[in-house]
Amino acid sequence: MLFFAPQTEFPVLLAPMAGVTDLAFREICRAMGADFSYTEMVSAKGLYYGSERTASLLAASPLERPYGVQLFGAEPEIVSEMAKRLANESHPGLALIDLNMGCPARKIISNGEGSALMRDLPRAARIIEAAAKASSLPITVKFRKGFDAAHSNAVAFARMAEESGAAMLTVHGRTREQMYSGKADWDIIAAVKTAVSIPVIGNGDVFSGQDALALRAHTGCDGIMVARGAEGNPFIFREIQAALAGKPYAPPTNAERIDTALAHARRLVECRGARAVIEMRKHVAWYLSGMRGASALRAQVNATGSLAELESMLTQYKHALNGDA
Ligand SMILES: Cc1cc2nc3c(=O)[nH]c(=O)nc-3n(C[C@H](O)[C@H](O)[C@H](O)COP(=O)(O)O)c2cc1C
Repeated sequence: MLFFAPQTEFPVLLAPMAGVTDLAFREICRAMGADFSYTEMVSAKGLYYGSERTASLLAASPLERPYGVQLFGAEPEIVSEMAKRLANESHPGLALIDLNMGCPARKIISNGEGSALMRDLPRAARIIEAAAKASSLPITVKFRKGFDAAHSNAVAFARMAEESGAAMLTVHGRTREQMYSGKADWDIIAAVKTAVSIPVIGNGDVFSGQDALALRAHTGCDGIMVARGAEGNPFIFREIQAALAGKPYAPPTNAERIDTALAHARRLVECRGARAVIEMRKHVAWYLSGMRGASALRAQVNATGSLAELESMLTQYKHALNGDA
């Protein structure tokens, strides 16, 4: 049992994914069976200096409660100040603040943020400790196997995080060097689970209900987190919940996939305005992947910035598929 979702014995979490897990997508994943979701990663510094674009990432939906905000930053004072502010403001449903110590992006690392903190445990400890002291909400930490193959220090990092006051850990079984390539190392997740007594969420390479069961069995983790497996496939949460319950799973029809893409687009435009049609392009490509004639439709979708046009393209495509759908 986990502190943020006592009703959920083995939580299945939607990962934070910058540029992907927008509010509309998170709502869809929750409706499909995700037990928890996070904002995209939010710069503590951006919030501190009043960036409106950064603050807009804090928007959450009443349909995703409880949820977490994920912060990244390298300055203990700034991260803890923002963790305190978030806990003191009114954010209904906000259950925890997660600290990103795994992001592999060069731009983030060059500021000493994200996975750069796996090379600087004293600083990571100061950040976690300061945030845990300042905030009345639990502070959780998401990190990787290590920075590179020669420095796979997830276990030492996990112990440090627990001692510094972290309430839960999420481990992605790849190093920063691997980015998203190769296979996730589930042994390291098992080793972290054994090393600490706070809940450990396993993450990496869950693309099906069977993968979810396998990750749980392999690591003894307290819950699992899904990232890329949900891209264009929020139905994966339905599949995983069915697998966990030992029930059969009926995959979505093409019509349901297209209808979900349409609902996602409409809701995203409602939340973010017309520019969201551009943001929808990659989602639409993912929703349609593997469908007959999808590449021709993708080219059309990539050429429009209008929701009405996008709706009409998808609706016509759905009718054209008819027998398949
Ligand atoms: C496009 C993309 C964006 C991501 N953004 C974040 C992020 O904002 N915060 C974070 O902690 N991890 C981020 N990640 C990492 C994922 O949360 C996850 O740890 C990783 O993809 C491994 O899980 P998977 O094998 O299920 O994809 C991102 C991953 C991808 C592919």
